[in-house]
Amino acid sequence: MSLVGHRPDGPGARPRVVLVGPMGAGKTTVAGLLAEAWGVTARDTDADIVAAEGRSVADIFVESGEPEFRRLEHDAVERALGEHDGVLALGGGAVLDPTTRERLAGHTVVFLRVGLSDAVKRVGLGSSRPLLLGNVRGRIKTLLDERAPLYESVATLVVDTDGRTPEDVAAEIREALADQRALAEREENA
Ligand code: S3P
Repeated sequence: MSLVGHRPDGPGARPRVVLVGPMGAGKTTVAGLLAEAWGVTARDTDADIVAAEGRSVADIFVESGEPEFRRLEHDAVERALGEHDGVLALGGGAVLDPTTRERLAGHTVVFLRVGLSDAVKRVGLGSSRPLLLGNVRGRIKTLLDERAPLYESVATLVVDTDGRTPEDVAAEIREALADQRALAEREENA
């Protein structure tokens, strides 16, 4: 295996790791911790969309509708996968797009798994997330049930986050990826 050195963001770069999982899994926080530990930058597709559009995710949903948000999200993921070399966190619904799921093949993808009770606690019952309006607990349960198979289908590593701190979760990811890399190198040299 040839170990690729640190390349700056730009064409040809690829994320060191991509984090997927539902709202409340802690993707953004864990991405920041991993990036800090590795000395790279963290990027978040929701933040990219907000910056490009100049309006919040909630406003995009209300003013333009979910299909338009998903279109923007698809493009944001595509761009970030092709030019970001640090840690990339995807919005919780990014894996709904079959092309995005295919595009994730060959990347190191970590599914941050969370159960209903921890997800509700982390998101908060007063969440402003557009998909949770009305009945936060019920909506999260539906999203978790519907999407778990999609997250699992793209993941190269699954990490449970229930009852754990983001620091603990980030440490497990670092160790697991180091082990995977060592194994791949041993197999390459065998
Ligand atoms: C969504 C998750 C949100 C954001 C939008 C839709 C979803 O991102 O993209 O509100 O469909 O699960 P986070 O997972 O970062 O909260």
